[in-house]
Amino acid sequence: MDLAVIGVGHVGLVTAACLADLGHRVVGLDDDAAKIETLLAGGVPFHEPDLPQLLEKVTASGALRFSTELADAIADAEVVFVCVGTPPLPGGGPDLRFVERVAVEVASSVDHELVLVEKSTVPANTGQRLTQVIRREQEARGTDLTNVHVASNPEFLREGVAVHDTLNPDRIVYGTSSDFARDALRRVYAPLVERTGAPVVETDVNTAELIKHASNAFLATRISFINAVANVCDLVGADVEVVAQGMGMDARIGPAFLSAGLGYGGSCFPKDVDAFLHLARNVGYDFRLLEEVGRINAGQRDVVLRKLRDELWHLSGKTITILGAAFKPGTDDLRESPGLHLVRTLMDEGATVRVYDPVAIPGVQAQLPDVATFTDPIEAVTGAHAAVVATDWPEIVKLDLAEVVAALDYPILVDGRNCLDAAAAAAAGLRYHGIGRGHLRT
Ligand code: UDX
Repeated sequence: MDLAVIGVGHVGLVTAACLADLGHRVVGLDDDAAKIETLLAGGVPFHEPDLPQLLEKVTASGALRFSTELADAIADAEVVFVCVGTPPLPGGGPDLRFVERVAVEVASSVDHELVLVEKSTVPANTGQRLTQVIRREQEARGTDLTNVHVASNPEFLREGVAVHDTLNPDRIVYGTSSDFARDALRRVYAPLVERTGAPVVETDVNTAELIKHASNAFLATRISFINAVANVCDLVGADVEVVAQGMGMDARIGPAFLSAGLGYGGSCFPKDVDAFLHLARNVGYDFRLLEEVGRINAGQRDVVLRKLRDELWHLSGKTITILGAAFKPGTDDLRESPGLHLVRTLMDEGATVRVYDPVAIPGVQAQLPDVATFTDPIEAVTGAHAAVVATDWPEIVKLDLAEVVAALDYPILVDGRNCLDAAAAAAAGLRYHGIGRGHLRT
């Protein structure tokens, strides 16, 4: 099939490459000419494992090409995926200006029947809005009012394993309001269903949008739940790691997304929890559970600060190393990174902060030019009064803890991801603090 993907950010670029890999002819469009130039030169504008190789393969075969002209990108497209950014607004809802603009542009230049698919995370009822915008535009132009079909096809990919997730989905969800759109999406995903046997949920547009809201909000809720349990574990002298293990063995609960720590970050969970709350508020439902999820998450940074203050008393004048700046391993994404939040708070308190990350340092330097940055973890901790693990990068998990002890001025380490071996840390001479590992002090 001929497909277009509008907006080749993280989601759009991975989607475009994977759809091309499934055998479709795909045009990736972005109005950021510099980004398209990078892609045309064989570069990838962000860190995502497996993506450079896949892009090389599908661009070399001609299955994927790039464009900066919307009319060119959609000229032959049967299905157009909208993957433009939906940045958060100050009030909590997402800014849908770019989504609206795409709908207007498509409506004003389309000359054949196609499906316009929302893939960006958007609030429920955005499909209805898009239909309204498109019809209005077409009416104003006196063009065919029936040739654009709006659909919702939420994506569930995780950064860092995005290619794997897209090509091995747990499920494929699409919501449509016409046979034309449903049949087109069936054909888009037929090769993936054949390849993986992934189950398909075919539903209406509002329900598809809600599946995305509810899935991300539920995962965020699990993380905040285990973090709240971790805080109780700290107080009563229990080990949250074993608690999570014991809970996860119950088939009704399952083990995923029960890792306690500094909390969730990234471009999705914080924004999506706020967006769902905002939506609920707008339609008259007081979703207090979700408010608490966000509050617990933000509080996890204070948990780490408290542990540092317990050890160091005043943080002003102390040198603290943050190990890991990316919001999670496998990415250079710093959006809503709990580690970076910590860096800013420590700086506000007058501490000297040093930051180590294996891939995200250029972004840290751009945002915080006054912070000392390192791509070697031992150099980063040398002479510091304490270190905090903020991202569970493999490079950090396999650190030689004796070397860490030798390099630090005081052997204090707060493991904000519970990713180090507590017994080995103690044996190496570290004053080790995890999150919810109160048993270590009893
Ligand atoms: C998430 C969803 O998983 C994905 O389905 C959706 O499409 C986009 O949002 P992503 O933001 O890439 O993906 O990262 P994910 O791996 O889900 O982790 C999100 C955050 O939660 C990270 O900061 C991670 O460190 C944290 N996390 C995750 C925990 O603190 N504990 C856990 O148990 C799991």
